[in-house]
Amino acid sequence: MIKENVLLLLNDQIELEAFSSFQYLSMCAWLDNQGFPGAAQFMARQANEEMTHMKKVFDYVMEAGGRAIVPAIPKPQEEFDGFRDVFETALAHERKVTEAIHHIVFESQANKDFTTFNFMQWYVAEQLEEESLFGTILDKIKLLDRDNSTFYHLDRELATMTGKEPSNPA
Ligand code: FEO
Repeated sequence: MIKENVLLLLNDQIELEAFSSFQYLSMCAWLDNQGFPGAAQFMARQANEEMTHMKKVFDYVMEAGGRAIVPAIPKPQEEFDGFRDVFETALAHERKVTEAIHHIVFESQANKDFTTFNFMQWYVAEQLEEESLFGTILDKIKLLDRDNSTFYHLDRELATMTGKEPSNPA
């Protein structure tokens, strides 16, 4: 049987995973609207994954004899400053999810709830993957940003650049 304080945390996690799904769906809509259909598809896949994460905790709570609660989901962020901001927001969000998961692992161990401790190991590994994925994408975006600034400087240079006319033949 799950201890009461661990059960509360697991139900919080159900809400957080569902919120993650909504947040990525909101990012999907923003990216699609801004003309980034590939990134929108990526976020749609992430949103689906988060729903499976939510359902996995939900099912575990029921299997372990607890009461799973269907949460009210807060409205996710819907405006972003740009492509890079979307992925920075996503990575910051995943770091918060990781903290929440580590907290459940800590509390389940402190309460000698080794079944929950064992169940949560999948999430510990998954968070490593997710942070790594978003980190890799951000590294690529930063490289592109750098290239864009190179183009920006070249563009300014071209505004005043002219070729030298050949001198008149003697
Ligand atoms: Fe299920 Fe990305 O946290």
